[in-house]
Amino acid sequence: MAAQDTPEWKTLSALADARTEPVLPTLVNHEHRSKDMSFSVAGCLFDFSKQKADEKVLDALIALAHAQQFNQRTVAMFTGEKINTSEQRAVLHPALRDGAPDAPTLLKQSVTSVRQRMIESAVDIRSGNRAGYTNKPFTDIVHIGIGGSHLGPELVVKALAAHKTTHINIHFLANIDAGDFEHAIANLNPETTLFIVVSKSFNTLETQINALSARSWFLERTANRDAIAQHFVGVTSNLAAAEEFGFSEENLFPIWDWVGGRFSLWSAVGLPVLIALGPENYSAFLSGAREVDEHFTSAPAEQNIPLMSALFATWNTNFLGTESLAILPYDQRLDLLTDFLQQLEMESNGKSVTQEGEHVSHTTMPVLWGGVGTNGQHAYHQFLHQGTRRYAADFILVAQDPYQKSEHHNWLTANALAQSQAMAVGLSSPDTPQRAVKGDHPTTTIVLEELGPRQLGGLLAVFEHKVFCQGVLWDINSFDQWGVELGKALAKPIYAELTQENNPDIEQDCVTRALIDHIKQAQNTHRT
Ligand code: F6P
Repeated sequence: MAAQDTPEWKTLSALADARTEPVLPTLVNHEHRSKDMSFSVAGCLFDFSKQKADEKVLDALIALAHAQQFNQRTVAMFTGEKINTSEQRAVLHPALRDGAPDAPTLLKQSVTSVRQRMIESAVDIRSGNRAGYTNKPFTDIVHIGIGGSHLGPELVVKALAAHKTTHINIHFLANIDAGDFEHAIANLNPETTLFIVVSKSFNTLETQINALSARSWFLERTANRDAIAQHFVGVTSNLAAAEEFGFSEENLFPIWDWVGGRFSLWSAVGLPVLIALGPENYSAFLSGAREVDEHFTSAPAEQNIPLMSALFATWNTNFLGTESLAILPYDQRLDLLTDFLQQLEMESNGKSVTQEGEHVSHTTMPVLWGGVGTNGQHAYHQFLHQGTRRYAADFILVAQDPYQKSEHHNWLTANALAQSQAMAVGLSSPDTPQRAVKGDHPTTTIVLEELGPRQLGGLLAVFEHKVFCQGVLWDINSFDQWGVELGKALAKPIYAELTQENNPDIEQDCVTRALIDHIKQAQNTHRT
């Protein structure tokens, strides 16, 4: 039965219709609210006390999860059933961090052996045992990949810079824009540069073009074709295409078909993370995520953090009408978190048909956006406090001050708490309506005890499982992404037209053709 036709969905609709607002100014003054609505895992506290749900709503949300067979679907995922039905694939990324003990044995064995190879390789690169073709140790690594093959590694390497235990510089190259390429390779010495090319499919345009440009850059400077094998590492599930590119067997790491791109950080996609942090910190990173897997598969629904996150998101999106989710990390080290979550949540749950291919009649993924605090307070928080749009927000804070600069850190923390307080309680101003702040906006506050490998691994795994739960509640497949294909296909004839004389055989709509003509003319004018 479609989610919106279940009695549980109807109960929630009735509760939403019967509610009287505002809810939060009262709820935040309940003595036990915080204790009842806060849960911890992997050194991260999730405080849901500023969500607009009382006990009745919570019970009804949990009933919806059961009606949507949350438990059975979780078991199906963790045991390797092909829950990505449109691509006939299992979804087993928890196995990459040993968080799926009931996954097939052979699969777990191959994870262990690839991880062992990754560790050996990383140790050798870090120590200089594995060096470039002139025997100089590597000083720079350029990670080439896009989307799920890029966002996670860059986020983690940047967020955990204080835990970096190597002098090797790590650069990231994703965009097809030549400016990104020039920036990534600026001032690099080919003798001491290692390229890691990451592409699950090995036919993603951006990664192919960037990898080919990197190979040409390397050959132009070294004139040594044999050295490619030493200076290029590949991570892919398309081993045949990768071999053709010139990777040696030793420098090729697999991505299995049961690892979705946006969930692939824990596979060899995360090789730069391992090189940057070293095996010990890397193991702590995986163990934080594993703690979350254990929590997710064993905690009761009413204490299950990923499930609760998805239930509140459903309540907000489908019953309270929130249109966006703002991600507000109050820590500069997490400034790439929004980008990462945009792919994770929007590519996963930006869908409009059910698992069976029926059109959904409820809304699905809201717009996910955001940015680091306190900067946002001087940009879009005005919109959040006095605009007309409904939204929900996640605040992410780190308790420990990493820099021993308590004045900065306490002001940062005070501002985060003040913003979520203002969003909850608002301000009434009957005489000067310009000053009134509506408040009553649902928010979650996530507090990391410190920003270490364990806590970051845990935080990201919570969001991953939230995405899965959300798909279950909406009855959509969170693990395919067919919507991105059309644009890729349409780009090909446009590229052909841009690079050759007008070709009447290429069909094009009139307005796109006009733009192509305009751009070509501008290019020619500029050239002459
Ligand atoms: O944008 C679509 C997408 O397929 C993502 O899902 C994926 O993470 C990204 O492109 C990169 O894909 P690949 O790893 O195959 O290069």
